[in-house]
Amino acid sequence: MKIIMLGAPGAGKGTQAKMLADRYGIPHISTGDIFRANIKNNTELGQKAKGFMDKGLLVPDELVVDLVIDRIKNADCMRGFIFDGFPRTVPQAEALTYALNNQNEKIDYAIEVEVPDENIIERMGGRRACVGCGATYHVVFNAPKVEGICDHCGEKLILRDDDKPETVKDRLKVYHDQTQPLIDFYAEKGAHVRIDGTQDIMKVFEDITKILD
Ligand code: AP5
Ligand code: MG
Repeated sequence: MKIIMLGAPGAGKGTQAKMLADRYGIPHISTGDIFRANIKNNTELGQKAKGFMDKGLLVPDELVVDLVIDRIKNADCMRGFIFDGFPRTVPQAEALTYALNNQNEKIDYAIEVEVPDENIIERMGGRRACVGCGATYHVVFNAPKVEGICDHCGEKLILRDDDKPETVKDRLKVYHDQTQPLIDFYAEKGAHVRIDGTQDIMKVFEDITKILD
């Protein structure tokens, strides 16, 4: 099963993608997590990506596409994968379609987690992210068992640099301008499904799995 999670920053893509990956036994591939790991390890890719990410802008397509296309050649992607944060532009979606076509494959579901902009700003201030494994928490809606510590890997939880309200506004604008067009792109391919992302986390999950099961 090949799945894309679509939706605004903070819509809950990562939260749902992690749970779906566990349920269906396929890898969760988050380009944001890949970049953050590279920034943490101070790699060349991380240095290039950081400036864009801190401003809430997209990292240029050429730094993203090859990395992802290589990633899905790994053996763990044989049964499928869940993309979270990729593709994010029409050229990225076209490159992905082309790469999958070459293997007679396609995206089965592009799941849009829909949340209005007003709700997003409120959510982001309370988000905490694990620097180790990328797990995401919320101080109110999804708190870790021990404050500031990841339930899964025991690493520290941080407030992401790009979660300041000003940057969140810029990220929302980038989403509407550059990523929202992908909804039509996948609707035309018959792969788009829309889920109400304002419901609680488990209800959103239930709505998604009803479709995927
Ligand atoms: P990325 O890491 O992908 O960030 P994003 O798309 O902005 O999305 P977020 O991770 O912020 O939100 P999410 O939808 O995963 O929400 P979450 O589950 O955490 O990208 C970061 C940056 O990297 C980009 O700005 C760009 O610069 C660069 N980048 C990445 N990919 C790229 C690409 N392909 N091309 C170019 N550049 C790229 O949930 C948010 C919060 O809400 C959490 O606290 C969570 O606990 C809580 N929550 C979740 N669901 C619910 C719910 N139902 N009710 C209440 N609270 C909830
Ligand atoms: Mg995320």
